[in-house]
Amino acid sequence: MTKSLRECINDATAHNVAIGHFNISNLEALHAIYAAAKKLNVPVIIGVSESEQAFVGLEEAAALVGTIRERDNYPIFLNADHHANFESVKKCIDAGFDMVIIDGTKLSFDDNVAVTKQCVDYAREVTKATGRDILVEAELGFIGSGSVMRDEIPEGAGVLTKPEDAQKFVTSTGIDLFAPSVGSIHGLIKSGKPHIDAVLVAEIKQITGIPLVLHGGSGLRDEDFTNAIKAGIAIVHINSEIRLAFRDAAEASLEANPTEITPAKLMQPAIDAIEKVVESRLKLFNNIV
Ligand code: G3H
Ligand code: ZN
Repeated sequence: MTKSLRECINDATAHNVAIGHFNISNLEALHAIYAAAKKLNVPVIIGVSESEQAFVGLEEAAALVGTIRERDNYPIFLNADHHANFESVKKCIDAGFDMVIIDGTKLSFDDNVAVTKQCVDYAREVTKATGRDILVEAELGFIGSGSVMRDEIPEGAGVLTKPEDAQKFVTSTGIDLFAPSVGSIHGLIKSGKPHIDAVLVAEIKQITGIPLVLHGGSGLRDEDFTNAIKAGIAIVHINSEIRLAFRDAAEASLEANPTEITPAKLMQPAIDAIEKVVESRLKLFNNIV
């Protein structure tokens, strides 16, 4: 039987490795990510954010990922990435997602706790009624928004999560996974990424006692990833790097084949390019040489 997401996270924690989480908004990315994971035989999480969901479709994403998992008996999971309110999270749970992220980072601490608790309560209710183990992640601290190209690090990026706030947040909400602000920022920044504070990761891991998730992985240095994983990161999110790989490869393919009209032919280089990026990140996160 395929391992559950919770079991895969526990395994990752026990072995000091991390599960790769990659966002999709099209079939090309899904095929590429799955191909890379399968080649290395490691679990993988597919992320669909609120904006990506509007393009892919909620039930469609659940059907695609669920079909692959069942057909191939493979640990591939679907996460509702950065959903900003309870209604949106509820729709994803109802559609069959394995995991949800309630992103209350724009709210006050107390409002963030309240909406997160509401999502945790609903997930537990559904788990009780259906037996589906739905994991809930929430965030505290500023890690920017949007997997985009940036000229510079956005203002406020230096505000990192305090361990005591993390502990209060985790105990007040009962979440399964916690995403702190430890130095990374969403997007690819031309002037380079801020450094990950691995000491802070270790402190937050120690005080909260639950698996931690690193967002804003694109563009980070290899040693930032490896130090963060050693310190307690169990899942790493990558999006901008695969968006960029897709765009560059698709553009080159269209330019090189001006008379070709078959999407499968035109987009194969984009699939290959995403697969390459994902494979290299998965090797690093899973300590595969
Ligand atoms: O939730 C998505 C990620 O945190 C992706 O961040 O675009 O910097 O890789 P990234
Ligand atoms: Zn994120």
